[in-house]
Amino acid sequence: MSKSRQQKKTNRWNDKQNRDQYVKKARESGYRGRAIYKLEQIDRKYRLINRGSLIVDLGSAPGSWSQYVSSIVSSSNQIVSVDLLEMETIKNVHFIQGDFTDLEVVEKILTSLDNHQLDLVLSDMAPNISGIRSTDQARAWELQEMISVFCDRALKKGGTLLTKLFEGEASVSTRKLFKQQFKELQMIKPDASRSESKEIFLLARGFKLD
Ligand SMILES: C[S@@+](CC[C@H](N)C(=O)[O-])C[C@H]1O[C@@H](n2cnc3c(N)ncnc32)[C@H](O)[C@@H]1O
Repeated sequence: MSKSRQQKKTNRWNDKQNRDQYVKKARESGYRGRAIYKLEQIDRKYRLINRGSLIVDLGSAPGSWSQYVSSIVSSSNQIVSVDLLEMETIKNVHFIQGDFTDLEVVEKILTSLDNHQLDLVLSDMAPNISGIRSTDQARAWELQEMISVFCDRALKKGGTLLTKLFEGEASVSTRKLFKQQFKELQMIKPDASRSESKEIFLLARGFKLD
């Protein structure tokens, strides 16, 4: 792409960000990103997070979901956050930098949980988009499969998962996958999620309950 086309694209993105009410609100409230409002809207409606909850936040950087969760839980060691990228420190959050699809990283998460089982698994992970449909679908599917295996190892009976999907083939298979593990599934598109985005959140409740 030429420099001027790239600059125009950047300007359009900046204009959109500046007009966006959630970007403005997040900046004013000291949150690290507008994504906070997706989680807040879902949590207000479905009551996912309690003062005593033990939570893993996958794909946590720059950190607005972790900031939100941290403002609710009552003590330290209740949140383990994971991202490929660095993340600045947040109160009550134990951060692990690494790739969630790497088994060593999963072991690190389990070690930091010290045999305690999770109440809630959150995932806002978004795979890098290659533009090649089949590759992107495969990457998205791999993340969800890893989350499913992780739930088997760390989520308590009756626990909850909230995971971001992108509408398409992978999201259909993902629903089938989680249907085998959870009592009820719901697809949610919060107001704060841009309408032009294909992202949608899957809320799965009642882990391993019949
Ligand atoms: C949309 S951002 C998350 C925003 C975050 N929820 C917040 O509120 O600030 C998606 C994140 O997923 C992370 N990610 C993508 N694939 C990952 C992987 N395999 N392991 C860990 N993090 C991953 C990216 O590095 C990126 O920071």
